[in-house]
Amino acid sequence: MKKINVSFELHTFASLEALPHGDKNLMEKAIGARKGAYAPYSNFQVGAAVLLRNGAVVIGSNQENASYPSGLCAERVAIFQAGALYPGEPVVSLAISAASAEYTVTEAIAPCGSCRQSISEYEVRQASPISILFMGETGVVFKCGSVADLLPLAFKNSHLKG
Ligand code: THU
Repeated sequence: MKKINVSFELHTFASLEALPHGDKNLMEKAIGARKGAYAPYSNFQVGAAVLLRNGAVVIGSNQENASYPSGLCAERVAIFQAGALYPGEPVVSLAISAASAEYTVTEAIAPCGSCRQSISEYEVRQASPISILFMGETGVVFKCGSVADLLPLAFKNSHLKG
């Protein structure tokens, strides 16, 4: 038996103000995107902003449904929209901000497992890492350099054909 340690670097910033200019700009777009959230069931608004290599920024927000599983997270709304508007254009980074109508979210909220898998598909397809920045409504911001950091041992298309 051998043991393998899996580790990754998480950069932490005390607040939005502490981010480098470009990252702050993208996070502000994610914060603004929360306004488009349709979250009458959870009261939890999430905004996402995707920066593409060509400089375009595409936003998304969570869109809920009375049939709960039919709703979609902000991250997937944003990255699917980016893929649809700019086919094949690599994604450089993704910023996420989450807020609640019921309490102040001070914790950095990482993307859910299904979103990690969806983002991973784009990262594998473009063969370059996608940085992910995430925060709550206020407080600390976390940044990692690749979705693979958040989804080690991901299932990939290469597994389908050997
Ligand atoms: N949500 C997101 O938009 N992104 C995540 O990564 C986690 C959860 C949304 C889905 C749902 O509308 C609400 O937050 C509560 O789960």
